[in-house]
Amino acid sequence: MPLSTLLLGLFVCLCLGLWHLRQRLQLGCSLPGPWALPGLGNAQMIGKLKPEFIFLVFTELRERFGATYRLWLGPQLWVFLHSAEETRQALHDPTLRKADTFQQLSPLIGNGLLISHGSEWLAQRRLLTPAFQPQLLRRFAPALSKHAERLLYRLQRTGGNAIEVTDYLFACLLDCIVDNSMGFALDTQLVEHSPIVSAFHRSSELLFKRMINPLLTSDFVFKRTRLWRELRVQLQVIHLHMDRIIEQREKQLEAEQQQPEQEKRPRILLDAMLLAGLSRQQIRDEVNTFVFAGVDTTTAAMGFVLYALAKQPSVQERLYTELSQLPPDGATSLDALNELDYLDAVLQETLRMYTIVPSTGRQTTRATTIGGRRYCAGVTLWINMYGLAHDASHFTEPYEFRPERWLQAQQPTPFSYIPYSAGPHVCIGRRYSMLLMKLLTVRIVEHFRLELKRPLEPLVLQAQMVLRSRDGIHIRFVPRGAV
Ligand code: HEM
Repeated sequence: MPLSTLLLGLFVCLCLGLWHLRQRLQLGCSLPGPWALPGLGNAQMIGKLKPEFIFLVFTELRERFGATYRLWLGPQLWVFLHSAEETRQALHDPTLRKADTFQQLSPLIGNGLLISHGSEWLAQRRLLTPAFQPQLLRRFAPALSKHAERLLYRLQRTGGNAIEVTDYLFACLLDCIVDNSMGFALDTQLVEHSPIVSAFHRSSELLFKRMINPLLTSDFVFKRTRLWRELRVQLQVIHLHMDRIIEQREKQLEAEQQQPEQEKRPRILLDAMLLAGLSRQQIRDEVNTFVFAGVDTTTAAMGFVLYALAKQPSVQERLYTELSQLPPDGATSLDALNELDYLDAVLQETLRMYTIVPSTGRQTTRATTIGGRRYCAGVTLWINMYGLAHDASHFTEPYEFRPERWLQAQQPTPFSYIPYSAGPHVCIGRRYSMLLMKLLTVRIVEHFRLELKRPLEPLVLQAQMVLRSRDGIHIRFVPRGAV
């Protein structure tokens, strides 16, 4: 290529870059927000923020600057939306795609459903949606019941001593999700230490550290850090495990293709991908996406369900009374579980009070209008699901845990309660996660009375990849009937 063409190309790119930056600057200047350092913006403030202070800082910024404010991360403009109407418009705007920040998850989940976009995302979504149809979910209950029994056994063995519940729930839910989606018995609940459990935990932590450090945005910089070197080791453990599982299922499926129709096993998520001819890499990306998006979220949600029940014995006893309505095998029947209104109210209130995914982000790809404001391309819009669920104009006494609010006929303001997001990217596993939570909650409450280890200690919430308790959740599982 002649030098003059190259220079002209560079000049055009530079002009375009400057033009986009000017547009963002104009928009940023029209929005309220904290004072920003030239060049760095508010990157220093965000980079130093401890996860437990994220809520405090964002609540304070909202109080100071109103419902829509901005932060600068170097040249990147972040706009925070807080109204239900802006949220509705942003989640349904077809010109927006997932925030660029989420692309930093790609070492673990490649171009899986959680971060892909456009026609590729649509094809993936169409392929995977049938695996979550309610009639297919019914089939999962017996396998889930087996994993729930193992969890009960492990809890029984704690002898009524307080334990931190996260690892117990994580192992159980990982086994459930891998079994249901890949037809593989990972059985991490049966071993003391599972390398894949630690690898998933640590990878999530390392990826989150990168996401909240604006200095590590560039791949070039990140791949020269200690974080990346450690992440690579953890990812190798995960990829090796997943490849082995996919290979095994591929062989089973080939053998089944030769068998008469009635002997074939029911199709699972992994089969749908293998039969659609996806490459090994594509399948691994999707499978890791499901584990990543499903296990941490449902573990956190279950942890908060148990915390809320232990914190409020009256709620726990009312739920226990409702469970007595269940028919003998009701705890494993999706239809029977769906009849339990109070159980449903407890779970809805948990997902409101402890919004597991506190916020999500979208990127403008071209000029668009949201909430009457014109946005140029290249802006990140953050939707504050936690803020909406704790807004007193939508929920009276929003910081009180009151399942009864879900038993009233009045529905919340549309888009004020969206724990699973909304619009085309609404969580694909939402019904499945409700089934998991219902089944586990019922089994645990039937068997144990839950007590907090330190009932008077306040819960300090941290916004990490998902919402967490900074100091863990410590509960005593006292067998019912024991004195
Ligand atoms: C309590 C449990 C869960 C919560 C609170 C939750 C929450 C969410 C939220 C808020 C989103 C949307 C993010 C966005 O709009 O940017 C999402 C997407 C997603 N979730 Fe969940 N989730 C849960 C469980 C699960 C489970 C069990 C699975 C799978 C087994 C799963 C798989 C996914 C996937 C693949 C997406 C991406 C969907 C897409 O973009 O098309 N989630 N989830």
